[in-house]
Amino acid sequence: MNVLSVTSEVYPLIKTGGLADVAGALPLALDVLGINTRTLLPGYPAVMDKIGPANPLMHFPDLLGEAATLLAATYEGLDLLVLDAPDLYRRAGGPYLDPTGQDYVDNWKRFAVLSMAGAQIAQGALADWQPDLVHVHDWQAALVPVFMRYSEKPEIPSLLTIHNIAFQGQFAANILPELNLPGHAYWEALEYHGTVSYLKGAIVTAHAISTVSPSYAEEILDPAYGMGLEGVVASRADSLHGIVNGIDIEAWNPAKDALITASYGVTTLKKRSLNRESLTKHFGLDHDNSPIFCVISRLTWQKGMDVLAEIIDDLVAEGGKLVVLGSGEPGLEWALKTAANRHPGRVGVQLGYNEPLSHLMQAGSDAIIIPSRFEPCGLTQLYGLRYGCVPVVARTGGLNDTIIDANAAALNAKAATGIQFAAVTAEGLRQAVRRTIRLFKDTKTWNQIQKQGMKADVSWETSAQAYVHLYHRLLGKG
Ligand code: ADP
Ligand code: GLC
Repeated sequence: MNVLSVTSEVYPLIKTGGLADVAGALPLALDVLGINTRTLLPGYPAVMDKIGPANPLMHFPDLLGEAATLLAATYEGLDLLVLDAPDLYRRAGGPYLDPTGQDYVDNWKRFAVLSMAGAQIAQGALADWQPDLVHVHDWQAALVPVFMRYSEKPEIPSLLTIHNIAFQGQFAANILPELNLPGHAYWEALEYHGTVSYLKGAIVTAHAISTVSPSYAEEILDPAYGMGLEGVVASRADSLHGIVNGIDIEAWNPAKDALITASYGVTTLKKRSLNRESLTKHFGLDHDNSPIFCVISRLTWQKGMDVLAEIIDDLVAEGGKLVVLGSGEPGLEWALKTAANRHPGRVGVQLGYNEPLSHLMQAGSDAIIIPSRFEPCGLTQLYGLRYGCVPVVARTGGLNDTIIDANAAALNAKAATGIQFAAVTAEGLRQAVRRTIRLFKDTKTWNQIQKQGMKADVSWETSAQAYVHLYHRLLGKG
């Protein structure tokens, strides 16, 4: 089966969050199951640099008034279709934000063009490759099924995966004439309170919809999580699926990780202490045996980083240490930095994005805190499980589905893999930290939790099979 995956980021070419990890790892897991995926993504500077000289496959003379070249490339096992439209994608800044941190004003066009190329490839634009199905990720690729629906050519089956319903691709209605769609497309698919919503368009037109965990699939039917789209999602409830993300267990393998100081496994847990030592040095922490908590995250409200900032003094007073790696909202960056200044030797904060350090933090910290208000899946808790870095998580979305709370029953059954807490409030997190420190002091129980987590299956295997099953259903073969 041939699948066209359309996405705005793919690890290891370009990454701002978990979407890239998923878009980069899923094709490799599907390959083993006989699915050939080609991934369409924009030719950002980082992507063009990495792929080097590439083979032009076809020229698009007019994608919403823009000319583009489609390049074929392979990179670390990924079969890529890179859409090279220099005016749109070869810019200083990130995939979505300019160097000053503002959204590019023409993001509506940048991702409509990506989606239009995707729709045309799905509907036969390439002479020697025809996908059987198109799998689109998030709002940036959400116009693919919309363009297919309103084109004269027959559509092919489509799957929309929602990684985060908070990001919807919502734009003023005056872009509508520029999208080259018939007027009725607005009322039938795109209209959202007088604006254009790309994500709504795909929720209405995709043949199936999935989210990245079963709990989140339920949650987005509820106004508290649906971000205004709960009614539209409910109208497609029969076609809604929740498939939890896996992780790349090769890239994230403490037994073979070149980015950490000492490799280790479930039977050689003691060697973690060498990583703990490196981490302690890196952040200038005190050399003592008190637990090191870490946070690796976008610094945003979604991730509960305001709540984290609120309890840092208490975490330190309880005897804990904390290291934070992240970037995001300036107010939160400031709050965390000032907390580090208040607590030298106890709290370290590094702003910015740093992939190697994120590995060392998982390998050297004792626990990872994830106090998200909502979390479609979350990946850092899965890396934590694999690295024996015990996840302390809010009970929501994928965090709920992947971590088994260390309550008495789970501890007795030796099933516990982490700590869950319900209310994302300062008091809720404070209690969770206290509970974690208590468990940490009971070394035998703590090691049991670490080992149980390290044994958990966080690979893509089961979830890739679930996608294959869904693909077959969409093709009418399952
Ligand atoms: P989201 O996609 O909502 O940000 P996920 O948990 O799904 O959350 O994925 C986040 C990914 O980004 C993980 O791979 C995590 O390790 C990584 N990450 C987040 N912040 C940083 C950072 N500052 N430096 C390095 N990696 C980071
Ligand atoms: C989004 C979600 C995150 C999820 C990731 C990959 O960024 O916020 O929870 O893990 O997508 O699916």
